[in-house]
Amino acid sequence: MFQGLVDFLVFLILSAYYIIESIIINLIPRHYRAGWRETLRGEIALVTGGGNGIGRTLCSKLSRLGATVVIWDINSQGAEDTAAMLRQEGGKAHSYKCDISNNDDVYATAKKVRQEVGKVTILVNNAGIVSGKTLLETPDAMIKKTFDVNILAHFWTTKAFLPDMIAGDNGHIVTIASLAGLVGVNKLVDYSASKFAAVGFDEALRLELEVEGKRGVSTTVVCPYYVSTGMFEGVKSRLFPILEPDYVADEIVTAIRSRDKVLLLPSYLRIFLALKFLVPWDCALVFLRCLIADTMQQFGYKNGETVPLMANAKVPEEPEKKQQPQVAAPPKEEFTQLNGSANLTLRRIQQQEEESDNGRLI
Ligand SMILES: NC(=O)c1ccc[n+]([C@@H]2O[C@H](COP(=O)([O-])OP(=O)(O)OC[C@H]3O[C@@H](n4cnc5c(N)ncnc54)[C@H](O)[C@@H]3O)[C@@H](O)[C@H]2O)c1
Repeated sequence: MFQGLVDFLVFLILSAYYIIESIIINLIPRHYRAGWRETLRGEIALVTGGGNGIGRTLCSKLSRLGATVVIWDINSQGAEDTAAMLRQEGGKAHSYKCDISNNDDVYATAKKVRQEVGKVTILVNNAGIVSGKTLLETPDAMIKKTFDVNILAHFWTTKAFLPDMIAGDNGHIVTIASLAGLVGVNKLVDYSASKFAAVGFDEALRLELEVEGKRGVSTTVVCPYYVSTGMFEGVKSRLFPILEPDYVADEIVTAIRSRDKVLLLPSYLRIFLALKFLVPWDCALVFLRCLIADTMQQFGYKNGETVPLMANAKVPEEPEKKQQPQVAAPPKEEFTQLNGSANLTLRRIQQQEEESDNGRLI
């Protein structure tokens, strides 16, 4: 009883201290706070999915601040294009083809990076995929793949690089989640669930590191609204503007430099998130339907017709396919509503299944 009272008092005093500290820190504009860590010279930053979109822009910004950048992507051409761009700008960059959904590939490529580049000190878990279908329309294999890429891969990459960060008492693990990791979104049930898991991954890992006294390693979770990279091609936003990758990458770099724990973009959305837990669910639902449901109606459809998503994005070339025994192909429309990465993913799954003679998408 007495111990409980002491614990409660300690909690109150520490809470008051941290609230005051946070108010003071938040009064300082973030770009000034970022100035506390002027350059990233000497850091080795690895960005998964750095061959396109937010990842590519982020690589460029990290490189300009002096970090050596390691780009991982399943699309080797995209990764190499990013590396070439960084080298042209005078930076140090290394590209690797890695399928982060495969833990053996992650561990083998991480070993190569350690030997060829050095110890990674900033890990950005950025690669992600989306299918954009209703739950009942999404093939089982695609749901599993979404979880493999959007969350399970974070476990493999973090297990590969965290030991060196702890040993060197210097590290930063950045999780690129999504606003859909804080509010549920229709037609994104698998994606949203995987991003909720990513938010939980960051929070639990941060607590674990703190409890274990590994104070040299920080974590940041990033939850952006829609970004115009092509991933959500076709989405229309009525209430809030769709974000630019350049702005998002700038904010992520600032968050890394100031070791922010949570980055919500745009930041004013935190008010609506707080309300989510304060107002009755039906009230929150009305808001979510205005914010999200309308935006998703256009996802995957143009002028009422199904079109391939991410039409402008580069779809990596498939390796030369061996002659396979004839098997029943999945219906063509399985692929047409998916974005580039997901589209590729489904074709890979199909190929794997054909190779194992199961021959049919679940
Ligand atoms: N675009 C948005 O509106 C938006 C909004 C919120 C969060 N996000 C998140 O931001 C991150 C980046 O999104 P983006 O818009 O730049 O996407 P993008 O599709 O432009 O880029 C994703 C990259 O990940 C790579 N990738 C896919 N599967 C992979 C795998 N198995 N192994 C290695 N690389 C793989 C792709 O080849 C691609 O280069 C994702 O995690 C996404 O969920 C995006």
